[in-house]
Amino acid sequence: MSSNSFGKIFTVTTFGESHGPAIGCVIDGCPPGLPIGVEEFRRDLDRRATGKSRYTSQRHEADDVEILSGVYEGKTTGTPIGLLIRNTDQRSKDYGDIAQTFRPGHADYTYWQKYGIRDPRGGGRSSARETTMRVAAGVIAKKWLAERYGVRVRGYLAQIGEITPRAFDWDAVEQNPFFWPDAAQVAELEMFINALRKSGDSVGARVNVVADGVPPGWGEPIYGKLDSDLASALMSINAVKGVEIGDGFAAVNQRGSEHRDEMRMDGFTSNHAGGILGGISSGQPVTASIVLKPTSSILIPGHSVNTAGEATEVVTKGRHDPCVGIRATPIAEAMMALVLIDHALRHRAQCGDVGTVEPRIP
Ligand SMILES: Cc1cc2nc3c(=O)[nH]c(=O)nc-3n(C[C@H](O)[C@H](O)[C@H](O)COP(=O)(O)O)c2cc1C
Repeated sequence: MSSNSFGKIFTVTTFGESHGPAIGCVIDGCPPGLPIGVEEFRRDLDRRATGKSRYTSQRHEADDVEILSGVYEGKTTGTPIGLLIRNTDQRSKDYGDIAQTFRPGHADYTYWQKYGIRDPRGGGRSSARETTMRVAAGVIAKKWLAERYGVRVRGYLAQIGEITPRAFDWDAVEQNPFFWPDAAQVAELEMFINALRKSGDSVGARVNVVADGVPPGWGEPIYGKLDSDLASALMSINAVKGVEIGDGFAAVNQRGSEHRDEMRMDGFTSNHAGGILGGISSGQPVTASIVLKPTSSILIPGHSVNTAGEATEVVTKGRHDPCVGIRATPIAEAMMALVLIDHALRHRAQCGDVGTVEPRIP
């Protein structure tokens, strides 16, 4: 009802606010026997973390995970896994002067209308701080998918403002703070973001996510389609305004002769569908793309109203990313991994006895 949980077998419930004492999650339905230790959360949490580079927010959090339950002697036990991260860098006074004001582009006005009360500190529950726990849960999902099925979920920044990659190299993605696949453009991006920060404005971005190694058969018909669950999960990330699966909206310009992915016994000849047909994985890479809106909290003054119903002006002085999309790559990977592990377990539950069906296209 209150929608702080998602998944059917591998379920994740998150709790906590941006400036509360801690944020956390409970993961229920994780298969037992998966080796996991606190150090394994570090990489993805660092990738998501604020303060990682000059190009994202200046808020600094240690993001150290505590495992409260569900793991014994380094292995998951099949019981609920409780994860906790204490908030160590809450500077609520940064937000004190906007507590009575509805910030344009934020959830302030809609939370106020819905609940009649809100935690204004850093956006409270609507803050992207919550995505830290999605990334933490995603670490477990990614590990199980990789160990059990050889599935690898990776993402990259595919557009920032009008800039798109001129070349593509997966190795380049982890070697720059933008998750950008063309190393030759990193200096250009730095200049672009620095100029943007100076101007006090922000910009939108596109992130692509790909899961390799997904076997055919994951996903369910009609209301449990893999693509509809993916779209919902990706759209639930803060600031996401668009989701595409496979070629997505580009399909509007395509002919059927181009879009349908023809099959030969040595493989599909293309992957316009994004690895999903009829809501079920085809065995091709599962591909999705999201667009994140430009950061709403900017230095440029904007009109708004306050809780007393008066006209006011908003200027944000807190710590904010000039492009929130720069940090969204690990979040998008986590959401895809969480949807995939849930569907892997759902497929196993109903169709585990079906086994490999011939012919199977590689
Ligand atoms: C990683 C990440 C960091 C974000 N940081 C900020 C931020 O510093 N300032 C801001 O105005 N919005 C930020 N956002 C977006 C807001 O959380 C979001 O726009 C707001 O809660 C309203 O929700 P909506 O845009 O999904 O409708 C961030 C989003 C993500 C994914």
